[in-house]
Amino acid sequence: MTRISFPDDFLWGTATSSYQIEGAWQEDGKGESIWDRFTHTPGKIKDGSTGDVACDHYHRYREDVALMKEVGLRGYRFSVCWPRILPAGKGEVNQKGLDFYSRLTDSLLEAGIEPLLTLYHWDLPQALEDQGGWTNRDIARWFGDYAAVVARALGDRIKLWTTLNEPQIFGMLGYATGQHAPGAMDQLQYILLSHYINLAHADGVAAIRNEASAAKVGCVLQLPPIHPRSDSDEDRRAARVMDGLMNRWYAEPALLGRYPEDILELFKDLDLPILDGDLERMNQPLDFAGLNLYSRLFAYHDPNIPLIEGMLDFDYRRPGAEYTHFGWELYPKSIYESLMRFKNEWGDTDVYVTENGIAAEDQLVDGKVNDQDRIDFLAAYLAEVRRAMDDGVKVKGFFQWSFMDNFEWAEGYTSRWGIVYVDYESLERTLKASAHWYRNLIESGGYDR
Ligand code: FCB
Repeated sequence: MTRISFPDDFLWGTATSSYQIEGAWQEDGKGESIWDRFTHTPGKIKDGSTGDVACDHYHRYREDVALMKEVGLRGYRFSVCWPRILPAGKGEVNQKGLDFYSRLTDSLLEAGIEPLLTLYHWDLPQALEDQGGWTNRDIARWFGDYAAVVARALGDRIKLWTTLNEPQIFGMLGYATGQHAPGAMDQLQYILLSHYINLAHADGVAAIRNEASAAKVGCVLQLPPIHPRSDSDEDRRAARVMDGLMNRWYAEPALLGRYPEDILELFKDLDLPILDGDLERMNQPLDFAGLNLYSRLFAYHDPNIPLIEGMLDFDYRRPGAEYTHFGWELYPKSIYESLMRFKNEWGDTDVYVTENGIAAEDQLVDGKVNDQDRIDFLAAYLAEVRRAMDDGVKVKGFFQWSFMDNFEWAEGYTSRWGIVYVDYESLERTLKASAHWYRNLIESGGYDR
């Protein structure tokens, strides 16, 4: 047995997002979001469910914060639902929406839990989608204005701010493959609008800094290692290109204020909407990076699939690798690889792992959930986080995904990610074995393995 230990001031937390837990979709003046519209459209969600009620966190947040305290959490990452604050996406502010996040923030602080806020975890106001949403260049300005409203209201109490959750994921799944809201399917269009996503992130950073001078501001990137399926030159090249399209295309603007040359070259005939001044506008240095790290992908050369228009038609898995029932590979070393890569390529900034976790087939039996597979997963991944810290990566905290079972996008309620079990009928919460394990780890600063 070895002891895996972490520094005393390590920020141990869990993460959630507004649409996945809040419910109260029509309450207190909230506007419709693209996820409300999408889930209300038949055939979009695996089990036909919606986030109308979800975990009803909007009404039960006090109980939830009390549970977080019971688990001993020091940090909690949540997101703000844009149409609760600006029902039309811009213009008039809905004070009741702001009040909710203000109350939540106060309860967290009272419980000694440090909030880490994400401004956008995918629930775009439908009113903005009706004006083109992410395909409209104005989205960057709209996002900046929204960021300013939230920062003005909460900047006195919240120190850790992040902009867009996983830009490449919501861009690709929402606008290219159509699996997520708003369900558009146009791979080329997606590439064009990806520039607006990068601009929006930058405008958000500038707005937060403007309104809350003490804020520490970061991005939230999903950054999976992309390995070639074989050692062939073609597969290696495919892996490099895929990494450029999915990772570097977002990481380099956010972290280095520029686009990767090789991908700009690949896109040279596409007429990207990059205007004079955009690159300067995009250059907004960050205080930290939030990284969502779960797994790795495999890329390969296939002459029948066009690289750009078909980038999402590939199967990013490799036969023989070990996958969870959710379809993500179990590969703890991926978190080490991503963290090291971050430091080596993008700098010595502080890092928070803003998401990591596993979907398990949890069963509530006699009032208990024995999710040993989740404990094993966290123990294996955290050992790799520790190894990256030993090798010089400045990891300052870890936010397990997720605090409680919740609405998992297109999968509905069919997969459970929480350390807290939620009975979706009674909405009763039960700490799983992993929550007790996590509490122990936080209390004692480490675990034996
Ligand atoms: C991430 C998302 C989060 C959740 C987990 C499982 O990509 O940010 O909302 O869906 O995956």
